[in-house]
Amino acid sequence: MSDEAVESLLLENRTFPPSAEFVARATVTDDALDVAAAADPEAFWADRARELVDWFEPFDTVCEWDLPNARWFVGGKLNVSYNCLDRHVAAGHGDQVAYYWEGEPGDARAITYAQLLDEVAQLANALKGLGVQKGDRVNIYLGMVPELPMALLACARIGAAHSVVFGGFSADSLRDRINDAGAKVLITGDGAWRRGGVVPLKEIADEAVAECPSIEQVLVLRRTGNEVAMTAGRDVWWHDVVPNQSTDCPPEPMDAEDLLFLLYSSGTTGKPKGIMHTTGGYLTQVAYTHRLVFDLQPDDVYFCTADVGWITGHSYIVYGPLANRTTSVIYEGAPDFPDKTRTWAVIEKYRATILYTAPTAIRSYMKWGDEHLEGHDLSSLRLLGSVGEPINPEAWIWYWEKVGGGRCPIVDTWWQTETGAIMIAPIPGRTVLKPGSATFPLPGVGAGLVDNAGVTLGVPASGNLVLTQPWPSMLRGIWGEPQRYFDTYWSRFAGRYFAGDGCKVDADGYFWLLGRVDDIMLIAGHNISTAEVEHALVGHPAVAEAAVVGRSDPTSGQAIAAFVILRSGVEPSDSLVAELRDHVGATIGPIAKPKSILFTEDLPKTRSGKIMRRLLKDVSEDGSLGDTTTLADPGVVESIKARYLAQAGSDDE
Ligand code: WT7
Repeated sequence: MSDEAVESLLLENRTFPPSAEFVARATVTDDALDVAAAADPEAFWADRARELVDWFEPFDTVCEWDLPNARWFVGGKLNVSYNCLDRHVAAGHGDQVAYYWEGEPGDARAITYAQLLDEVAQLANALKGLGVQKGDRVNIYLGMVPELPMALLACARIGAAHSVVFGGFSADSLRDRINDAGAKVLITGDGAWRRGGVVPLKEIADEAVAECPSIEQVLVLRRTGNEVAMTAGRDVWWHDVVPNQSTDCPPEPMDAEDLLFLLYSSGTTGKPKGIMHTTGGYLTQVAYTHRLVFDLQPDDVYFCTADVGWITGHSYIVYGPLANRTTSVIYEGAPDFPDKTRTWAVIEKYRATILYTAPTAIRSYMKWGDEHLEGHDLSSLRLLGSVGEPINPEAWIWYWEKVGGGRCPIVDTWWQTETGAIMIAPIPGRTVLKPGSATFPLPGVGAGLVDNAGVTLGVPASGNLVLTQPWPSMLRGIWGEPQRYFDTYWSRFAGRYFAGDGCKVDADGYFWLLGRVDDIMLIAGHNISTAEVEHALVGHPAVAEAAVVGRSDPTSGQAIAAFVILRSGVEPSDSLVAELRDHVGATIGPIAKPKSILFTEDLPKTRSGKIMRRLLKDVSEDGSLGDTTTLADPGVVESIKARYLAQAGSDDE
């Protein structure tokens, strides 16, 4: 093994118990929750629902489970916006800050719970005035402005389901999502700030809405001040119709199983799925997990860097934190604007205590260099989180040392748009961490491994991750496609939900997520996951990021093609290609050596930061381009393709 390979293995095997100082303050340090959940999962969840949620009418049945259809807290009536706002204000916390909002250009707002309630009520009344009724769908297409969480909450208040489309999506993506949902109203803005420039939201929305017959009205927020065209009779300015509304808008009592929102999950292939989430179970589990996994304390200042356009933003910027009366920080723009210190400056300015971000961001920070953190006081931080993909041990250790100063537990949280809330994660006051492992299923969650025939595996083992019992925040279906819901999640392994992820459980019972099982390659008869090879590559000091695909190969069935971003300052060379191939060979075994390695400046990613391996596969097979609409930067594929074709053959053996 190479020195780096040994180093990487050593990192994985290091353990990090919570410090005595952390334990002394932690909310949960024992296993009482596990004991209760194991004894009676339904009673456990019913207790959480009563403890965390205010019900207008109590539920009479905890869970009705008729696979694949679950109904939780049946008979219960509640309103999610009431739970996020009114009850806190009524309890005397109206002056507590709900959101510290930091605009990209440097403007800022602190919004208290009382102000948030008033503005949400006004917006809710305005939506009613635009014809929105209980049971309707409202599409939302905005940047990260305070009005975005307000829009979600206003819909929840009047019983309309929201469908947020991330502000970076194209007109076609927006159009398809609006049409699938049959939305009546679209809430958008003139533009969104991104890296000092304006994303012309209204222009894109106009192009989309031209082909959306269900849209009756478009509500337009002024943010960037650019010229926009307003269509008479259809478009109204926010500032004309919202501020003059009454701040009195009684929350609509909703059934626990009424639709709260749709969120489209595009994944890397296929037509986007309108993932359905309902009110009672979703709110219960997001509040529970937000409290437990982030060890929430009354004086926390919580900063999640996700966009509200993703499930992470829905669950852990809006609903979980507000239900728990958290003070949060929201940052509008890019982490490298005006320079690469912005994230650290925001943490320092607001004295953030919790940071929740993604491995892709962590690797960018690493790539940009430690000098950007220097001189920033990050001593307010006490807990760090990670979500979205497996975090490689090197990035974990960097996060631990450079950001957390060696004192902050890192909670690596595994979940999905479909699960609604965190499912596998450490409980920071008691879990001994291993870098790169999401550790254990949370109390109340049933998870395990099965082989390809569906046989349950003992530990240690490696196999398909399945969820073995229904959970309150589970998706209730795919909008308009019940058969696809069953086929996608419940048909592969009878009686169990299949998440699509491969996973290893070690001898101590720790869960190590391995990426999507579709990303398993068959190399000369051996199963090798793309994540394993990527992991080995980023374990080399020259490599910042790596993506790996299997392409067809006449001799080995499949051959491994790697796409590598080097750390700043490292020059690409043929000898480095050889060195990296040897490094992978030494780490995993000679069979896993990439047949080709292409150095690139960027990788094709979905807007949520997931590498689009399908596109890289197309590139490596024959250079043909697939559907690029969910790409962060469609030009990346063209440039990778050109470089790949120019180089093809040269580093093949
Ligand atoms: C997929 C879900 C969950 C919110 C953001 C993504 C991968 C997510 C982890 C993690 C390893 C992870 C899985 C999962 N994933 N978190 N901590 N470790 N993999 O939501 O877009 O619905 O994607 O993201 O592959 O299935 P999503």
